[in-house]
Amino acid sequence: MIKKIGLIGLGYIGTTILNAVSEEANENLTIQAVYDIDNVKMKDVAEKHPSIRLMQHVTDFQDCDIVVECAVQQVVAEVFDEIIKSGKHFVPMSIGAFISLPGLFSKYQKLAEIKKKNIMLPSGAIGGFDCVETIKLVGIKSAKLQTRKPNRAFRNNSYIESNNIKLNEHSPVVIFKGNAKLAATYFPRSINVAARLALSTLGPEKTLVEIIADPSISKNIHAIEIESEVGKYTFLFENNPSPTNPKTSWLAALSAIYAIRSI
Ligand SMILES: NC(=O)c1ccc[n+]([C@@H]2O[C@H](COP(=O)([O-])OP(=O)(O)OC[C@H]3O[C@@H](n4cnc5c(N)ncnc54)[C@H](O)[C@@H]3O)[C@@H](O)[C@H]2O)c1
Repeated sequence: MIKKIGLIGLGYIGTTILNAVSEEANENLTIQAVYDIDNVKMKDVAEKHPSIRLMQHVTDFQDCDIVVECAVQQVVAEVFDEIIKSGKHFVPMSIGAFISLPGLFSKYQKLAEIKKKNIMLPSGAIGGFDCVETIKLVGIKSAKLQTRKPNRAFRNNSYIESNNIKLNEHSPVVIFKGNAKLAATYFPRSINVAARLALSTLGPEKTLVEIIADPSISKNIHAIEIESEVGKYTFLFENNPSPTNPKTSWLAALSAIYAIRSI
């Protein structure tokens, strides 16, 4: 049976998904409908893909089996209840929403397991979740994320400015140490990875995050350390930025395509 996708957000990740699904000879998936607040992007899809329906509003996805969000965190909150009620599959990319928007994390936590299974959290710019889920059979003692990004990633960050943190042009500077929830508050643009890890491990309060501004790198580097009675596990992800949106790692868009295909 063909699964119909409703795609919300036509930026880097959205267009990567659109192109991948449209170009591949996959008889099981089709892009049914799209939505973006930017009308120019909607018009572009209408011209290039006349068979794709343009959604009238963000929850206009009744004829879709899978809703993919690749827009902004607020959209996750706007569509969440409707998707859960309808039993559709949901692939949210703005995962930071689950720890930074009030109420969404507890809504997610309270979902019955069967409903939770309809939410496919893409691994995003990190991975290793098969191992994490396996360790969870015994339990996780600690989960830490160290994110290292080039100095330019932190330009105009209000936390850095108000705490008078000086970035150094020659050596790395630790700019934040705290839990995932605080990281979400102070670094809203960098928290999808922290949120993804927190949702699969110890939650926003107990998952620890360190953020480093490193002038010597051009990649976004995430190191994860998990301790359990089963063992100690370290994962390292050195991500190249995407060709068109330097804020987004290429791997993140690919993870969305993988998540959709695995439904
Ligand atoms: N899970 C992860 O690891 C991970 C990694 C990278 C990016 N992301 C997140 O995925 C999302 C998309 O990333 P991107 O690189 O494609 O961003 P992008 O900026 O290239 O595209 C976002 C698109 O969403 C549209 N948009 C904005 N507000 C909207 C709204 N209210 N309704 C509908 N459309 C709206 C914009 O017009 C734009 O076309 C972002 O929230 C980003 O933070 C997640």
